[in-house]
Amino acid sequence: MIDERIALFPATSTCDNKGHLLIGGCDVIQLASVYGTPLYIFDESTIRQQCQRFMSAFKAQYNHGVVVAYAAKAFINVALAGIIADEGLGLDVVSGGEITIAQKANFPMEKVILHGNNKSLDEINMAIRSGVGRVVVDNFDEIKLLERLAAMSGDAASILLRVNPGVDPHTHQYLTTGAVTSKFGFPIAQIEEAVKEILSASYLNLRGLHFHIGSGISEVEPYLKAIDIIIELAATLRSKYGLKIEELDIGGGFAVRYTLDQPVPDINTYAKSISERITTRCKELGLETPELILEPGRAIIGRAGVALYTIGMTKEIPPFKRYIFIDGGMGDNIRPALYSARYEAVVANKLQDKSTQKVSIAGRYCESGDILIDNILLPSINTGDIIAVPAAGAYCLPLSSNYNAVPRPAIVMVSNGKANLIRRREIYEDLTAHDEIVNDV
Ligand SMILES: Cc1ncc(COP(=O)(O)O)c(C=O)c1O
Repeated sequence: MIDERIALFPATSTCDNKGHLLIGGCDVIQLASVYGTPLYIFDESTIRQQCQRFMSAFKAQYNHGVVVAYAAKAFINVALAGIIADEGLGLDVVSGGEITIAQKANFPMEKVILHGNNKSLDEINMAIRSGVGRVVVDNFDEIKLLERLAAMSGDAASILLRVNPGVDPHTHQYLTTGAVTSKFGFPIAQIEEAVKEILSASYLNLRGLHFHIGSGISEVEPYLKAIDIIIELAATLRSKYGLKIEELDIGGGFAVRYTLDQPVPDINTYAKSISERITTRCKELGLETPELILEPGRAIIGRAGVALYTIGMTKEIPPFKRYIFIDGGMGDNIRPALYSARYEAVVANKLQDKSTQKVSIAGRYCESGDILIDNILLPSINTGDIIAVPAAGAYCLPLSSNYNAVPRPAIVMVSNGKANLIRRREIYEDLTAHDEIVNDV
């Protein structure tokens, strides 16, 4: 019998006759010995499959044009940006750094959408110079700055207006962006004023509206509520200002399955309900149906990524706790400490062993909150066994740190039995590379 948690791992995951976990045709135990741990493994075929699923699910349901732009914040590097470009997706970026990665990967910049609630003058200029396709405008200060910089460049900027529809997405408060008091976007009450300013500007071309209500949304209902609000807003803007909404960007937020007890809707369910609602509401209000833009991050990359750790020491505190200590933790995955994110794990070299003991997997960092998984059933373990954590592809590495001066992990991409290093492990020299000793101040 194989550990049932294998269902949470990348699509290519299997178990060999030694009870080892294989991903993309590669034995992860061998990867751990070649590249060391902690190690992040990404399965290329799962990434491509998710890109294709999003495109085909929404294109099958929505007949008015669909753009899927991968949200780079979930995880990006040059190799991944190349795969995303190859699959024909756009890219949602939020910083000059993410623009730079896109450029290094030769990403088609007209397919890049720039977000952010506090874009700097330099970042906006970078976006203009590099030919970023859309800027999503977040606030009144940005309208003025973007108009000034676009005028200096001589070309109008194509923009979307970020609307905060005030919808509760029923997710963790740190993952919510659509509540009335959120720092993101214009509250509905301020939209008309923003539109008037944009329409009176000479170098801003308002293409449409955007919302993103949160992340890890495992219900369709919050999207439908936000769509109702935004389409009504579109009708008001058309009747009062003659504005035609050509593009509707509904952000990301689609949930990923982290644990066996937490099923999530499949992409087709989201695609069908969302497409039907937009089409129906536009028809009812006499609006032309806009092109649809989506920005999934987590749902593209989450399942494709797996974190590997080596078990070091253990600690028993009878009758309360049995800890197993791993060589990573909150430095590479802060999500459990930050918002009580729950994960599963398997012992990657004992996939056929029965899980008989309850343990807590704790990280190596100097914080009591550095517990990766509290109370999980695992097979009998030994020092040197390899722990594999599924669904670790999104928001782990981008939120990683050098806390306790621990170097960040290596990352490999696996495909058809081959592994390629796509980011080398940091070394101690990296940790002091930017330090200076200043003698006279
Ligand atoms: C504007 C915007 N779009 C897309 C996303 C991606 O969200 P997710 O990774 O949950 O799909 C985010 C995440 O915060 C976001 O802020």
